[in-house]
Amino acid sequence: MQNNNIIDKNIINKKINLTGNDILNPVLLAPMEGITDLPFRIICKKMGADIVFSEFIASEALIRDAKKSFDKMKFTEEERPIAVQIFGNNPYAMSEAAKIVENAGVDILDLNFGCWVRKVVQHLSGAALLKTPKKMIEITKAVVDAVKIPVTLKTRIGWNPDSKIIDTLAPELEATGIKMISLHCRTRDMGMSGNADWSYIDKVKDKISIPLILNGDIKTAIDARKAFLTTNCDGIMIGRAVVGYPFLFREVRQAIDNNIITEKPNIDERIDTCIEHLKLSIEYNDFPKGLYEFRKHYSGYLKGLHNASIYRQKLVLMNELNEIIDLLNTYRDFLLSYDNENQLQILDNNS
Ligand SMILES: Cc1cc2nc3c(=O)[nH]c(=O)nc-3n(C[C@H](O)[C@H](O)[C@H](O)COP(=O)(O)O)c2cc1C
Repeated sequence: MQNNNIIDKNIINKKINLTGNDILNPVLLAPMEGITDLPFRIICKKMGADIVFSEFIASEALIRDAKKSFDKMKFTEEERPIAVQIFGNNPYAMSEAAKIVENAGVDILDLNFGCWVRKVVQHLSGAALLKTPKKMIEITKAVVDAVKIPVTLKTRIGWNPDSKIIDTLAPELEATGIKMISLHCRTRDMGMSGNADWSYIDKVKDKISIPLILNGDIKTAIDARKAFLTTNCDGIMIGRAVVGYPFLFREVRQAIDNNIITEKPNIDERIDTCIEHLKLSIEYNDFPKGLYEFRKHYSGYLKGLHNASIYRQKLVLMNELNEIIDLLNTYRDFLLSYDNENQLQILDNNS
């Protein structure tokens, strides 16, 4: 890392404390199904994420003892404080699942009231609960009463443009005893389209005293600074932008704590982190599942690199770890032959 550039002189000085330790200028890894498994969380933690969130877990499956759901709850000590997220529509099932999560030694229990996908909302879970706020409050209260660990929740600003209810709902949620709200600043019917409306952060923050985390459309370190400096958020949460680019956590940390823009990762770091992540995926998901699970990450790690699509197409078809590592190292040599100083200046928009 060289040639650090000063951004401006504004100081960002936020703090949350959920588990007994202050977290300064919190930067959180968003829960993402199919992405935020244990290996990816370890990589993000190393890069500077303060709290990492699991993929969502169905409360009903957890209380039925479904192995896949229990596997999603596994974590390592280095991830602490670790947040596990559950979803569901039944207060009893949610509070029983919450107890299971607590007994597993998890630090923070997060409730999913924001998921927009059909398979969740058709069961009146996730963001569908924004249509039945009383039910959402009932579930939240049941869960808070059932466990001693801090309970947090993640939601959206409303169901659709005509029901942006979060500023009136948030104080009622706070009254149940939850310790933090993460707000994806879109309505449910937007899905992932349009722009996140960060103006809702201040509208909600004016009415609650628990920490409010801004989520939605943070793509760069500059966005992260903007989120802290233009809203009253207590922290930020990043999802899509770190998939295949966990280095963003380090860039964000430097930008918000030290007001500097750091260099992008060089070729060696991109390839080394890809290999490290792949090895972790095999270690924790076993072989060959870990290898298959990892395939979705090649495109992120190689994005923008010269001839990336050619290598990516080969990598996703390969089944032997040694051969994959050999090919990644061959690709590294190829890239370095173009870029003697290892500065990753060669970008290929067609990749
Ligand atoms: C692949 C994918 C999976 C997701 N899974 C979850 C999930 O399990 N629970 C949840 O609360 N949100 C989930 N989300 C939403 C993200 O946590 C986040 O709110 C959203 O991506 C907006 O943040 P971003 O603009 O930083 O990506 C998911 C998003 C993506 C792209």
